[in-house]
Amino acid sequence: MNPASVVGIPSTIPKGAPPVRHYLQFSDLSASEYQYLLRRAAFIKAKFKTFTRHQPLVDRTLAMIFEKASTRTRVSFEAGMYQLGGSVVHLTTGDSQLGRAEPIEDSARVISRMADLVMIRTFEQTKIERFAEFSRVPVINGLTNEFHPCQILADIFTYIEHRGPIAGKTVAWIGDGNNMANTWLQAATLLNFKVNISTPQGYEINEKIASSPYGISADSYQTYSSPQAACKAADLVTTDVWTSMGFEAENEVRKQAFAAWRVSTDMMAVAKPQALFMHCLPAHRSEEVDADVIDGPQSVVWDEAENRMHVQKALMEYLLLGQLD
Ligand code: CP
Repeated sequence: MNPASVVGIPSTIPKGAPPVRHYLQFSDLSASEYQYLLRRAAFIKAKFKTFTRHQPLVDRTLAMIFEKASTRTRVSFEAGMYQLGGSVVHLTTGDSQLGRAEPIEDSARVISRMADLVMIRTFEQTKIERFAEFSRVPVINGLTNEFHPCQILADIFTYIEHRGPIAGKTVAWIGDGNNMANTWLQAATLLNFKVNISTPQGYEINEKIASSPYGISADSYQTYSSPQAACKAADLVTTDVWTSMGFEAENEVRKQAFAAWRVSTDMMAVAKPQALFMHCLPAHRSEEVDADVIDGPQSVVWDEAENRMHVQKALMEYLLLGQLD
């Protein structure tokens, strides 16, 4: 006899329960789901700004697993989950069995029996995919080597807040062909805008990722050898650190290779007069961006950072409760 049935506790997920939705890449949601999420994030932000309680996730727990450092991702998910009425468990590789070679599949099975949502920041995308495969609850990508979907969701929300719809607009990506660049390309394909991308030689976007199996259309982007040319007539200019987490050993070589890819006031001058500047942060002034740009009038980086929390609250609510309006 199944001991669980004796005490009336279901031993498996109930039959007929809706399939678990994960958010591992930007392309995991549809354009219409993004329309809802962006609208919902504005509603949730307005509540936050007027000190109006919004607690649809009372008694729900978010487990956050960090295998890399974080400021914004941790604070935005943690504060956001508390504001939604839930609670948070914070795990790192150093203070859990994750760092002592417990198989990721076993960790997923165990953690997802106790938490209602899991957010993971890790290295390879395959790692979060393996976790998700064995998780009974939604898994959210808080950054992998390949993708950073929550950041791009916040960036798009921020663009819309300041300038209206992003469809038909041009985003200039200047710098490393990294996880942010990949995710911008997924977003451009899905939401119908363009990305002009300029990277130093040897740091181009990965062609395998920039392809249809990853939800990226070749029509959604154009590559430029000159960063100035990529910025021309852009509606948004954005960049990231020259050395992403996990690539620190390449730092000095990268500084040389990226020297001409620092976003400057000259680059902003060839973008549209109303162009915005974004950076996912943390930033290194006088490396990937001049202080005059990041601290200048076109920069919206602080709104962008804050908006991580608002869009992720909408995302967590959606993954657990579905569409509410
Ligand atoms: N932008 C971002 O993900 O910031 P953190 O690394 O501080 O989380």
